[in-house]
Amino acid sequence: MTIPETMKAAVLRDVEKGLEVNEIRTPHPKAGEVLIKVAACGLCHSDLHVIGGAIDFPKPCVLGHEVAGQIVELGEGNEHTGLEVGQYVSGAFLMPCGQCEACASGRDDLCAPFFDLNRLQGKLYDGTTRLADLDGSEIAMYSMGGLAEYAVVPSTSVAVVPESMDLVSSAIIGCAAMTAYGAVRRGADLHFGESVAVVATGGVGSNIIQIAKAFGASQIVAIDISDDKLASAKELGATDVINSVTQDARAEILKITGGKGVDVAFEALGRPETWTTALDVLKDGGRMVPIGLGAGVQTAQVEINRLVRRSQHILGSYGARTRQDLPEVIRMADLGMIDYQKIVTKRIPLEEAGATYKLLSQGKVRGRAVVDMSL
Ligand SMILES: NC(=O)c1ccc[n+]([C@@H]2O[C@H](COP(=O)([O-])OP(=O)(O)OC[C@H]3O[C@@H](n4cnc5c(N)ncnc54)[C@H](O)[C@@H]3O)[C@@H](O)[C@H]2O)c1
Ligand SMILES: [Zn+2]
Ligand SMILES: [Zn+2]
Repeated sequence: MTIPETMKAAVLRDVEKGLEVNEIRTPHPKAGEVLIKVAACGLCHSDLHVIGGAIDFPKPCVLGHEVAGQIVELGEGNEHTGLEVGQYVSGAFLMPCGQCEACASGRDDLCAPFFDLNRLQGKLYDGTTRLADLDGSEIAMYSMGGLAEYAVVPSTSVAVVPESMDLVSSAIIGCAAMTAYGAVRRGADLHFGESVAVVATGGVGSNIIQIAKAFGASQIVAIDISDDKLASAKELGATDVINSVTQDARAEILKITGGKGVDVAFEALGRPETWTTALDVLKDGGRMVPIGLGAGVQTAQVEINRLVRRSQHILGSYGARTRQDLPEVIRMADLGMIDYQKIVTKRIPLEEAGATYKLLSQGKVRGRAVVDMSL
């Protein structure tokens, strides 16, 4: 396999200008990393916070943290990873360093170097980035910088996608599906027969619905502001739907749940109003699991006495435990428990990434749009 010296990437240099597709140097993996030829990269709401400037991130940078592709080069130190050139893999946005205290205890979701080096500085764990412009000047990486023809990913953060799966659609596994799995399995610790509500049924929320169903939820109530998204939610397994603009979410939930509210309310947007909705529909002793990220530093109101007297819990959940959970999420997708292909409603060429993020910010993308590098 010949790897070209340069590649196309969607680079964010300036928030005013947005994404530009440029030719940059093709990266190469260092120790404990692999290089993948990107087949597809999903467009996630979290990128919008960086593109819109609400979350500060070094620039120039390459975004895109939901990738699938083929391993084309291995860095040193992959002797015991089982990874080989030629394998198809999906990459997780949450890339554990594998060496810190949190990683040692299996809490990949709390990996400190991931936050400090990657999320704040756009680097990998040797403190440098793999991406550079043609003149050699550095380009930061948001996760693996997946909106490009090639991407370096730490070996901890990829898992093999079997040939029975559709590689392009499997791009959504490493964030939308894995985050949903983390919320259901780790955040909520959902038990068979419990009732759930999912507030905001976009890319991540749609996966929560399917995974909650697989875990045996008795009722799955989708809450969104778009009838179109709610229709998809129903197809994916929601037992009931509520449009929170035209209906009173709390009153409707009480009707559906025999006056009690739900055991678990997932919040998947990260706005004060969606927190309110999620807390409003929760039963006494219930668990609210927020996974939506705010646009920068945001706060939400919580009614103190209600939360205290009703023994309600708020359990934030970020990603999942990549090394343990990513292979399980792939298995669920391969078994048909997560209809990952149905979540992907739009395939676009890299050049249309900027325009499609705009549609996403306007709420005009159902499920997930993915950049298909073959287009
Ligand atoms: N915790 C994590 O690890 C993690 C990982 C990925 C994404 N995220 C965050 O999750 C959130 C969802 O991401 P996504 O890619 O699914 O977003 P998305 O843009 O695909 O979906 C957002 C959904 O919210 C709905 N919505 C808008 N306003 C609403 C309201 N007032 N009430 C109910 N629904 C409303 C929209 O109709 C849409 O269906 C974002 O905040 C993102 O940053 C968190
Ligand atoms: Zn994401
Ligand atoms: Zn770590």
